Amino acid sequence: MIGIFDSGFGGLTVFKEIKRALPQYNYIYLGDSLRAPYGDRSQEAIFNFTKEAVDYLFKQGCLLVIIACNSASSKALRKLQQEYLPEHYPDRRLLGVIRPIVEEAVKVSKKGRIGVIGTKATVEAKAYLRELDQQKKGLEIFQNTCPLLVPLVEENVLNKPETRMIIKKYLRPLKEKKIDTLILGCTHYPILMKEISRIIGKSVKVLDVAKIVAEKLADYLNRHPEIESLLKKNGQVQYLTTDNVERFAELGSKFLGEKIVAEKIVL
Ligand code: DGL
Repeated sequence: MIGIFDSGFGGLTVFKEIKRALPQYNYIYLGDSLRAPYGDRSQEAIFNFTKEAVDYLFKQGCLLVIIACNSASSKALRKLQQEYLPEHYPDRRLLGVIRPIVEEAVKVSKKGRIGVIGTKATVEAKAYLRELDQQKKGLEIFQNTCPLLVPLVEENVLNKPETRMIIKKYLRPLKEKKIDTLILGCTHYPILMKEISRIIGKSVKVLDVAKIVAEKLADYLNRHPEIESLLKKNGQVQYLTTDNVERFAELGSKFLGEKIVAEKIVL
């Protein structure tokens, strides 16, 4: 099985593309809605919550877990990969969303002026800055936090003047820096892709992050037949949440674009 972890249902934007690209595998999607949002939380809290979730998914039999949440990928992934996995699950794999997105950003950016928007946790952690710098020296990177976008998406306040006004305010500093590529560093932002693309303008390439993560996962599985061959392939999906199943199913269905039934678990 492949595990997909997110702080809530936002990661379903990523899972939607994974499932579209790789429908044959069995998946467990786990959203820690009870403790979401992660975006304003401390490193310690995000690390501990993510560790519990990943541990749960490994115990369910996942050989590979994708952390779809940018805040968790920024604040917990590296430490889990370096310190937790080797000791507890040396034969399992844990991947995040930042590396694949950064690899693509470096490829498509012509002028090397890259903008990143995300939650406070993601921006503070500077994980995108570090990864981008590792991939290519001399890039000009500009970040901005967009704390109001997650609640606006969750409340379904999408095509509204107030939403456009807020997006404009968040994107202005990046526009002024004349970025040529924009990374949507949060699971919720692809829902606002059209508005964001329109506001940032045609000269900026807005990366389709969910699609990129799905493509890179397909490529990863191709390069790792030792893992791929062990994965179950019945096309089954289980949706788990740590909070109210009805709300998860209702909002989750919107994010995923298809009806889902969720089960409640305790981490
Ligand atoms: N999933 C989170 C992310 O991508 C957004 C929601 C939250 O703050 O928990 O950063």
